[in-house]
Amino acid sequence: MSLDPATAESLLAFWAEGGVDAMLLDAPVDRIAAGKIAPPAPPARKAAVAAPPPSPLRAASQPDVSAAVAQAQALAASADSLEALAAAIAGFDGCPLKFEGAATQAVVWRGEPTAPLMVIGEGPGADEDRQGQPFVGRAGQLLDKMLAAAGLTGRVLITNTVFWRPPGNRTPTPQEQAVCAPFVERAIALVQPKMLLLVGGASAKAMLRKDEGILSMRGRWHEWRSADGTLELPALPTLHPAFLLRQPAAKKRAWADLLTLTERLDRPERTSAP
Ligand code: URA
Repeated sequence: MSLDPATAESLLAFWAEGGVDAMLLDAPVDRIAAGKIAPPAPPARKAAVAAPPPSPLRAASQPDVSAAVAQAQALAASADSLEALAAAIAGFDGCPLKFEGAATQAVVWRGEPTAPLMVIGEGPGADEDRQGQPFVGRAGQLLDKMLAAAGLTGRVLITNTVFWRPPGNRTPTPQEQAVCAPFVERAIALVQPKMLLLVGGASAKAMLRKDEGILSMRGRWHEWRSADGTLELPALPTLHPAFLLRQPAAKKRAWADLLTLTERLDRPERTSAP
């Protein structure tokens, strides 16, 4: 089967979103026998495999963000309203994304400050960066349509795991998400929603601290816990609308997820017997 480049790219994005990180053939191929690669070197003796020196590349790709996280925690804790929290985020310099080219302003949230549902996406894109509001581009318009169809208009507060646009719309790193997490948690504490809708793999992995693909996490209830363990909420991962724009056939799964969500959100609260 030969694919045109656009279809191939879309298919690879679909697999990557689902957590596929290796390609296997149906039958094994002995590439050593075929002379394509050298046979593996005999195992080195124990003394020769003492821990390698830390790679500068690895160290650079995993910066120590503990000081920035501590600063974010302190700022977040002192904000007693969403307005104060938004101002604290705008004045915070600890997230490297703030200084990486494309980002012009902090993009915090939009919607109802006392919403029963918080929608948490990955991070702002170019449209969000320009307009200063989350999910206002094509993906956001699709998200709004889906929320409207599920009867959720006016019942959500929409935000992201990071508040500045990652350059080139790349996925935010776990470190960037960790630095912003205290603000996300404080927003949840202030809004006091009943549940969370985690939109896309990058959001679900960061919020649930799980390294699973979105296709296996989506549509099932998980328990979100704040870092200090004082807050717990049911959280439902679902597919990202940007993914649905590329793979319209997946919309039916996202719709099933929204029905799962509204069934629980609209379930009458059980009152204790008199
Ligand atoms: N994608 C996201 O995850 N968030 C936005 O705000 C926009 C696009």
